[in-house]
Order: sequence, then C-alpha cells, then structure tokens
Amino acid sequence: MAEEAIRIENVTKRFGDFTAVDDVDLSIAQGEFFSLLGPSGCGKTTTLRMLAGFEVPTAGRILLEGDPVEDVPPHQRNVNMVFQSYALFEHLDVQGNVAFGLKRKKVAKDEIVTRVAEALELVDLSSRAAARPNELSGGQRQRVALARALVNRPRVLLLDEPLGALDLKLRRQMQIELKAIQREVGITFVYVTHDQEEALSMSDRIAVMSDGRVAQCGPPEEIYEHPREEFVAGFIGVSNLLEGKVEPGGKVRIGDDCLPVPGLDGAGNGDTIQIAVRPEKVAVDEIGADAYAIEPDMFTVEGEIESKVYLGVGNQLTLKLGNGSRLVALEQATYRMRADEQWEVGQKVKVGWHPEHCMVLS
Ligand SMILES: Nc1ncnc2c1ncn2[C@@H]1O[C@H](COP(=O)(O)OP(=O)(O)O)[C@@H](O)[C@H]1O
Ligand SMILES: [Mg+2]
Repeated sequence: MAEEAIRIENVTKRFGDFTAVDDVDLSIAQGEFFSLLGPSGCGKTTTLRMLAGFEVPTAGRILLEGDPVEDVPPHQRNVNMVFQSYALFEHLDVQGNVAFGLKRKKVAKDEIVTRVAEALELVDLSSRAAARPNELSGGQRQRVALARALVNRPRVLLLDEPLGALDLKLRRQMQIELKAIQREVGITFVYVTHDQEEALSMSDRIAVMSDGRVAQCGPPEEIYEHPREEFVAGFIGVSNLLEGKVEPGGKVRIGDDCLPVPGLDGAGNGDTIQIAVRPEKVAVDEIGADAYAIEPDMFTVEGEIESKVYLGVGNQLTLKLGNGSRLVALEQATYRMRADEQWEVGQKVKVGWHPEHCMVLS
C-alpha cells in the first residue's frame, strides 16, 4: 500500500450525550481520492472538521503523515478545506481571492504571482483572473474556491459537498474536472458527499457512513457489487431484498423456491438470512417463447408483471413472484429493441438471475 496520508484511529465524537461519530477507524493513502458517503446527519462533516482541527475527538487519535495532530492547530496542519458555500470576497477580483491567504502569510510578492497563476491555470480560469465573483457562473465560483485552497499546496484537501449548490448537469461536468485536477496535482482528497453516483464515479475508495459509524469501506465496485449490509445495499443503488432460510448445499429457501446462493459461508442451516439482487441483474422472458434475456445457467422462477414504468433508456418492471415476493427488474433498451416494445401488466413471465449476483447481507 502507498504511504499513509491520514490515519483515523478509533475516533469517537460526542456532543453532550449524542454520538455524532462512533468509533471510526480508517486509513487513507497518499494521493488517494477518498469519499465519505452517507445520508444527512451521519457524521461526515464532523469527521472532516476533526481532520481539519476545528473539532477535537472525544476519543481516539488522528495522525497526518504518521504524526498525531491533537496539539496542532488548524492553520498549522497541512490541510485545506473547501465548502459548499464558498464565500468569496466580492470586492476582490478572482486573482485577489486566490492570493488572499498567501498575502496574509506574507509570502513574497513574485512567488504569490507565480503560484496564483499556476492555481488559476489548474482550474482553467486564467482568462478570468481580473473578473469579480459576481461576474462568474456557479461552476466558475466553485473553481475559484478550489484554486484558493490549492494555492496553499496542502498535502490534503478536505471537500465538504463542494458541488452541492450546482445544478445536476454542471455538477456532473465539475465531477469530471475535479477528478482530473486531483490526478494532476496528486494531493490526497477527502471528499464528503451524500450523492452515491458522485462517490461511485470519482473515488478510489468510499467509506459508507450510517449513524456515525462506517458501515463499509472499499473501492466503488466492491461497495456496489458486495454490500455487506442492508443499509449499504439500499443506499448505494437500488436493491431487491429477499429473506429466506439457509438449507444444506449452499441453498436458500424462499417460499416454495430453493435457490443457489454463493458466499453463504458462516451461515448455518436453518438460519434466516437476507439476500439482495440488483434490478439490472434480473432477466425477464416471455413464457413459452425462445429465451431472449435468460441464460442457461441462471436460476429461474415464474412471476407476473405487476407494473411497468417506461424510462426511455429502458423499462422498470415490478414482478410478483409465485412465492409472494416482489422484485424490481431494470430492463435496458438496446439497439435491438425499443424500450416500450413488450410487456403487458398481468402477463405471466419467467424471471431469472445468475446465482453469483445474489448478495448475502449480514
Ligand atoms: N456542534 C454540534 N453540537 C451538537 N450536535 C452537533 C454539532 N455538530 C454536529 N452535530 C450533530 O451531529 C450529527 C452529525 O452531523 P454532521 O457531521 O454535520 O453530519 P453530515 O455532515 O453527515 O450531515 C448531526 O445529528 C448533527 O446535528
Ligand atoms: Mg455535512
């Protein structure tokens, strides 16, 4: 593993009797794009503020590049924070905003000029150096805020929902730009968001937080393909949850159906477990017709189309299975078919998925 930039060691933060951060233990590598993802109130900002030094942990330790920082005040940590509400100085031009911190630190004039030019180049705002903030778009203002942090050359950049105020299209574009900037400067990013798609598309690793604790930490593919608990499966994407009893031979009984489920190790016969299947892994075929979506090694059951929602890029089908459970299937339209071509509500269908797409939850 690459050198460690940040170590959060069994950190707990209480406000009165309320536990905002609950025994969080994380190691973040040098140059990593690391995201804290979770719903509002789960403790993301508090964790970030402890890294920055604005809050003190109630228990546990924080180490930056190997050194404990409990006695290091915020301005002496080699860490910078970017907020969602990027308060720019409206009376200063872009250049002045970016130079502000360096001037206060009494950095030499010609060095300020070079570093400001560098930072503006990085965020693609060189041509707007003389503009006032009120002449800029939301995306450009956010880039000024980013340049203002990067000009300090921090070892770690903490970003608290930095794109939260932008509309969806601009946000998607800024995600790509931000990721490219991070690659270019090689600074460790700790990125806070409640947007799962944002976390999946930008991060090297994600820590999913719930009620102050880390529910799961890993690369995006692992979090999406192998969520370990219901909260993660439901928060990252959509999941079908099925409950069944473990039977011998790596099978799970749900009603009259007995389906093969890999990865049951640890569960004993007779245990009730939860499994999840992603809607896009569920295949649906007409009964009696040649197989179109269902493949030979899939587990199959019969069901009925209960509802159908046309999404343009496909159909979202709700299926009622013979055993009484309901599944959502997401059928992607392809060049071979139009999304609205088939399926009537009430139609009997065959439903299938690959056993390895069953995710066992704890
Ligand atoms: N200074 C504080 N005093 C009391 N409670 C706080 C304080 N800061 C945060 N909290 C509480 O801690 C919880 C986590 O807050 P926060 O870290 O801001 O969550 P997030 O950023 O994930 O939305 C929330 O319930 C919040 O109300
Ligand atoms: Mg927050």
